[in-house]
Amino acid sequence: MGSNAGKYRVILGTNLALYKRQELIAKEMKGMGNLIFAGCDTVELAKKYGTPLYLMSEDYIIDRLNEIKESFLNKYQDTIAVYASKAFLTKEMARIIKREGLGIDVVSGGELYTALQVDFPMDKVIFHGNNKTYEELELAIDNDVGRIVVDYMEEIDMIEEIAGKRNKTAHILFRISPGLDIHTHKYIQTGQLDSKFGIPLTEKTINRAMERTLFAKNIDFLGFHFHIGSQLSDNENHIQAIKIMADLMKDIKDKYGIVTRELNTGGGYGIHYSDHESRKPLSYFTDRIMSEIENACQEYGLVRPLVIIEPGRWVVGESGITLYTVGAIKEIPEIRTYVSVDGGMPDNPRPSLYGAKYEGVLANKLGEEARDPVTIAGKCCESGDILIWDLRLPRVEKGDILAVLSTGAYNYSMSSNYNRIPRPAVVMIREGKDRLIVKRETYEDLLRNDI
Ligand code: LLP
Repeated sequence: MGSNAGKYRVILGTNLALYKRQELIAKEMKGMGNLIFAGCDTVELAKKYGTPLYLMSEDYIIDRLNEIKESFLNKYQDTIAVYASKAFLTKEMARIIKREGLGIDVVSGGELYTALQVDFPMDKVIFHGNNKTYEELELAIDNDVGRIVVDYMEEIDMIEEIAGKRNKTAHILFRISPGLDIHTHKYIQTGQLDSKFGIPLTEKTINRAMERTLFAKNIDFLGFHFHIGSQLSDNENHIQAIKIMADLMKDIKDKYGIVTRELNTGGGYGIHYSDHESRKPLSYFTDRIMSEIENACQEYGLVRPLVIIEPGRWVVGESGITLYTVGAIKEIPEIRTYVSVDGGMPDNPRPSLYGAKYEGVLANKLGEEARDPVTIAGKCCESGDILIWDLRLPRVEKGDILAVLSTGAYNYSMSSNYNRIPRPAVVMIREGKDRLIVKRETYEDLLRNDI
């Protein structure tokens, strides 16, 4: 845990914890009643930078990265942890991961380019993607990325050709879709056989893949990767997948004499969004993952491969909140009250895309008593643009600042310009000091590529 982490604790959701937190806030702010996030008065930040505004706590991110080091990297030998940058990536975020010494998982030329721009050590980069283009693979191989995770057979032909032309060796893993039904939203399940991701685990396809690697030139086969889904609340899915992968490792050793040197177990560890979800310590997942791999290898007489994890959401999800200003308030008698804010679906598509649930508080009225529920609507021309249904807030007025919690993952990274709404600014906070890391988009930015 970072030395200042206690002092600048991030303030997080759940109705229950919220009340506790209000006491904490009142104490810290001598009764001012404004939400303090990571040591900063959020209402002041809203004034300084405008809204909507993404706030991220670097102290929180460092806490999570330290937890990864303490309970995984330092605890188990031959392990690697990479941050799944799709959850939240900017140049500054890449710099933080670089400074803290972890690796990064990228899934597109754009994410790779971001890492390159901050001189991220390329040997610590893992390149994923179910449809990497030839140009993206060239960018990866030209820059010597550490590992390429091959998603389908023909990708090997491209890698072989590109690496061959440059007289280089590409280090690859195969992404396997292990054929599991995972308990999470259908759109974020990824491990089932009927999936666009990975090489389906059938005898025929695996034999083809293995025979192909035996004869591949300029390719060094390291092992396998699986990622079975996201926002998982228990470790059972990982365990089931490991059992399947262990069988596979044994089969290819027996059949082809191929040794699996690396096993990448993906990410997917869930976090806290609202009352029924919680973030578990990393060790809840990784201890089971490691013991399952060790046991299986012992049973099958295999050398335990190097183990990789790729958490994204777990690192940044709770580190972020979004501030909005309340605008139109529409009371439909005996039906509901819509409270519209100055952002919505373009800065956080998750409620409309996955039915994701969020917590929110009025940042300028923390001490006040909650009243009847209201519904928080975004400003898009779209009925589905609702951020939170039935949220109990104190009396809401135009100009109030609403903070939506746990928006650090898959919000900024999934934002859009729908309705030609400029993207919000991103502010990073460390030890109570705020700094702008992404500027607010302007109308000119929206038109930059228009001809
Ligand atoms: N590794 C691979 C290969 C992945 O595909 C993903 C996420 C991760 C790691 C990181 O997963 P995490 O630890 O963040 O759960 N947009 C969705 C999430 C999509 C996740 C896609 N892959 C959402 O907002 O819930």
